[in-house]
Amino acid sequence: MTIPTSLARLADMFAYPLRHSHYVELVNPLWTTHKLMARVVAVQQETADCRTLTLRPGSGWRSHRAGQFVRLGVPIDGQRHTRTYSISSAPNRADGCITVTVKAVPGGRVSQHLVQQVQVGEYLPLGEPQGEFVLPESMPVHPLFITGGSGITPIMSMLRNSVQELEVVPDTVHLHYAPQQHDVIFGAELATLAASQPHYRLVREYTRDGGAHFSAAQLEAACPDWREREVWACGPASLLADVEAHWRNAGLADKLHVERFHAPLALNTDAATAGRVRFAASSTDAASDGLSSLLHIAETAGLNPQHGCRMGICHGCDTKLVSGSVRDLRNGSLIAEPGDTVQVCVCAAVGDVELAL
Ligand code: FES
Repeated sequence: MTIPTSLARLADMFAYPLRHSHYVELVNPLWTTHKLMARVVAVQQETADCRTLTLRPGSGWRSHRAGQFVRLGVPIDGQRHTRTYSISSAPNRADGCITVTVKAVPGGRVSQHLVQQVQVGEYLPLGEPQGEFVLPESMPVHPLFITGGSGITPIMSMLRNSVQELEVVPDTVHLHYAPQQHDVIFGAELATLAASQPHYRLVREYTRDGGAHFSAAQLEAACPDWREREVWACGPASLLADVEAHWRNAGLADKLHVERFHAPLALNTDAATAGRVRFAASSTDAASDGLSSLLHIAETAGLNPQHGCRMGICHGCDTKLVSGSVRDLRNGSLIAEPGDTVQVCVCAAVGDVELAL
């Protein structure tokens, strides 16, 4: 439901200091204009520890490109957590919904909540679609997809998009790794695609059942023309490290597109300097070991700082350095200028430090 602009302005005058959208939210959170919400309209179990949430976004949602991710707000015990998830559905679904497919991470409070607790009918804050892990507007002729575990999710969006838009999957090789057959997310749908799409070749490796891990020989056997193909890879850090090294050594790094769940951290434990972190706006102090991310330290101290991806992509956790210095855990670089921006999810304190947070 959209209220005409002039009427909305008039309603805002009467609603001051709030906006009319805050009152509309009480009627239906999907009609708000001051923030984007989504209603959980279906949940589907995919594997023992993974399920798909079908979300109906409210006003203001713009469609994603296949492969992009969204930030999802997850209220747990009165605290709002934010995580990013790849969208697993094709863009522009006829019902206007999107899906995210979440695997419960051992010890991961938010992912476990989404997999075990979230119910149909709940409303969750939603961000805009983001990310560059997408196919070019004009489809490449020969994609090679390499996925592991829940790294299948953005690729599933691409495959579904091909079927929805083109009715055929173009010449594609897809290498997918999972511990065992019953761990394969979207296993039945992938098998149906492989059986019905003549140009889509799916190679599944069950690493715990004697299947191969990624290697040069295995790639050569599964996809002899890999050098000619543009590659999209998503999965665990170890798989992506091997894939990146292989394409780099072949001088073909520019053909590789990688999507990660976690920032690659270049931790140098020798360079760590313990100290205290002062969070100025919240008047909170906490101890730092010089290795833990400032986001982790803030959360452990009972703060709930804004954040999104937790891996240095979205800038949802940005704050300002007041004094001292911090180290970017991805590359070891120092940030020491007061007023500089600090991404607390991928930076650690170097000795004593004060942040605006
Ligand atoms: S949470 Fe996304 S950059 Fe820190």
